[in-house]
Amino acid sequence: MTTRPVVAITDPLPEDFLGDLEHAADLVCAPADAPGVLADPIVARAAAVEGLLCTLEDRIDGAVLDRFPRLRVVSTLSVGFDHIDLAACRARGIAVGHTPGVLTDATADLAMALLLACARRIPEGIETVRRGRWGRWRPARNLGIELRGKTLGIVGLGKIGRAVARRARAFGMEVVAVRRTPGPDPADDARIVDLDTLVTRSHVVSLHVPLTADTRRMVDAAFLSRMRPGAVLVNTARGAVVDTNALVEVLARGHLGGAALDVTDPEPLPPDHPLLRLPGVVVTPHVGSATRTTRRNMARLAAANLLAGLAGRPLPHPVPGAPG
Ligand code: GLV
Repeated sequence: MTTRPVVAITDPLPEDFLGDLEHAADLVCAPADAPGVLADPIVARAAAVEGLLCTLEDRIDGAVLDRFPRLRVVSTLSVGFDHIDLAACRARGIAVGHTPGVLTDATADLAMALLLACARRIPEGIETVRRGRWGRWRPARNLGIELRGKTLGIVGLGKIGRAVARRARAFGMEVVAVRRTPGPDPADDARIVDLDTLVTRSHVVSLHVPLTADTRRMVDAAFLSRMRPGAVLVNTARGAVVDTNALVEVLARGHLGGAALDVTDPEPLPPDHPLLRLPGVVVTPHVGSATRTTRRNMARLAAANLLAGLAGRPLPHPVPGAPG
């Protein structure tokens, strides 16, 4: 008879990602073709589940927590935790952990990749070649925007914001930033300015804030209209930080030069969404942390949070404001 604690995994991970967790816990996993916290095999063992390894796709609220009476740790395979009701976890004494730090470089790389794709119209170029429309080299065709000498405005100078700032400086950009909470001295990474200065001066605005009640739709019609004509918006944070309808409207009237989005609201973005019909829009399917190295490291942190919580130790990577 096993005495190992039962841990539910809401989306299967490669076997070699789980490390010690595989031996330390009795794992019950949602099937690959029907992932989710309420997948049948998980619901069947719900009464015994003590640890939950979830993803940002799983909404963990009071109603879900009530299905797991023995739950002691929620460990999300993400740095963002806006999908978890922290008050509901706190009320039940459930520890909550996440995976900060290990996805900084992968996400910053993607922000730069999206910016370059948008500035240099790469998707359009690929489409031209694929459709057999690569004609004569023309001096005035396929012209994009050069990054050197342009100003990048970083909204949220946390780990990822700073990593983007360092990359942008290597491309010859001037970097300004706003931050809501005091952090380490930005040194050479960026010049701290107020939000109005950032919005009105930047050629590119890149979002790096978590989704909270304060940041939900902070990029609204007023924000977007105050951006420089021809500016580019980059979002690798959370889709709901931006008011999507307002973004469609400013792009449609030609005020912005483009939008490079790894996250959208709604998500997934339906293929017939008006955003996808607008020129200068580049969208990827929430892949900021999607490298093998980063996902493996995220799994390592998520497993460490679970092992600590199940052993009654403080989590190594607790979510701020949740019982750790
Ligand atoms: C990805 O969006 C994450 O929060 O890890």
